Amino acid sequence: MHCYTKIDEDLFYVGYSSRRINLFENVYPVPEGISYNSYLLTDEKTALFDTVDSSVVGVFMENLKAVLSGRKLDYLVVNHVEPDHSWAIKAVLSEYGDVKIICSALAKKMIEQFFGSDVASRVSVIETMTELDLGKHKISFIKAPMVHWPEVIFSYDKTNKTLFSADAFGSFGAIVGSLFADDFDFDEKTIEMYRRYYINIVGKYGMPVQNVLKAASGIDIERICPLHGRIWRKDLKKIIDLYDKWSSFEPERQGVLIAYASVYGGTELVANKLANCLARVGVSDTSMFDVSVTHPSYLLSELAKYSHLVLASTTYNMGIFVNMENLVNDIVSHAFENRKVVVIENGSWAPSAKNLIVEKLKPLKNFEIIDSTLTVKSTLGGEQESDIEKIAQTIADTMTSRAK
Ligand code: FEO
Repeated sequence: MHCYTKIDEDLFYVGYSSRRINLFENVYPVPEGISYNSYLLTDEKTALFDTVDSSVVGVFMENLKAVLSGRKLDYLVVNHVEPDHSWAIKAVLSEYGDVKIICSALAKKMIEQFFGSDVASRVSVIETMTELDLGKHKISFIKAPMVHWPEVIFSYDKTNKTLFSADAFGSFGAIVGSLFADDFDFDEKTIEMYRRYYINIVGKYGMPVQNVLKAASGIDIERICPLHGRIWRKDLKKIIDLYDKWSSFEPERQGVLIAYASVYGGTELVANKLANCLARVGVSDTSMFDVSVTHPSYLLSELAKYSHLVLASTTYNMGIFVNMENLVNDIVSHAFENRKVVVIENGSWAPSAKNLIVEKLKPLKNFEIIDSTLTVKSTLGGEQESDIEKIAQTIADTMTSRAK
């Protein structure tokens, strides 16, 4: 049975959502599910924009057949070869034997790697064409390397001013009901799904995202159709401005993420005391997480939000506690920039986490260590209360709106 949605007189949503997977890309928890979007344009010629993940191929093919209703499929535009969007290529080719695949030259190589030379032999590369003429609809292409793989392109339908934006402007979360982002509040919970998706999936590639935002600013866009999440057709500036901020690694606001690793509660107590002291000096926009409880993808998303980061870690095996080390590695591998950082360590006989964390963070641009003086031995000593107060004051003093 099919489950497609008509977007306008020629454009149909033929993707589908999954709520069964626990981990997207086998890494990221998706408790709200995930959508795999695919769009079908029916003009004098028909064109499908991307396919779907293996988990939803069945309903996707039903959707495609139902909308085409006996018509042939002329083109399959592959904006992104990652298998969550290309897995159904073979199923499409086997149902529609004459379909031509349109993609970048690099995508053609990847299609051959994933699906073999027979499939790759069906490809026409965008480098050899100016536009794809479907009749009323004329499709042009914008190269968008590293958003999120190097072969990525965006497709732009000049007729209905629709941008098919691959992974960009997408979100975690299954689609429930309406396809359109403007039918829902863009509240903190929703922004969190966009932010966590962007930062973890595309976030390392800030400069390529900035480049593609510049390229896209020169075209008239009335609708954005991403490969995950809802379609944007109103207030496009909301999501574009957030992408601009995130991709330039500018914090959304002044505030503090406290991430702690604690085995018997000593380091956790330090984190709580610091949060209390921050509140006393007027810093209340603080979030705090135990790195052994919360997946690092959520912490990276919090870090995209806040100006300040506190890492408080116990020492373990003469190093950084394993889940804290995982978080620090993730921050470094995503090439975060522009944060003010406090590092605190705990250790019962040979504390050593602090210097190791500071060393790991060194390659990051404008990652300023504003305090790394506090070493706790097992639990906070009474005389160290004032050290915590001092750290809180340093954080408050280095917030932009408070700087003297
Ligand atoms: Fe949703 Fe980069 O794939």
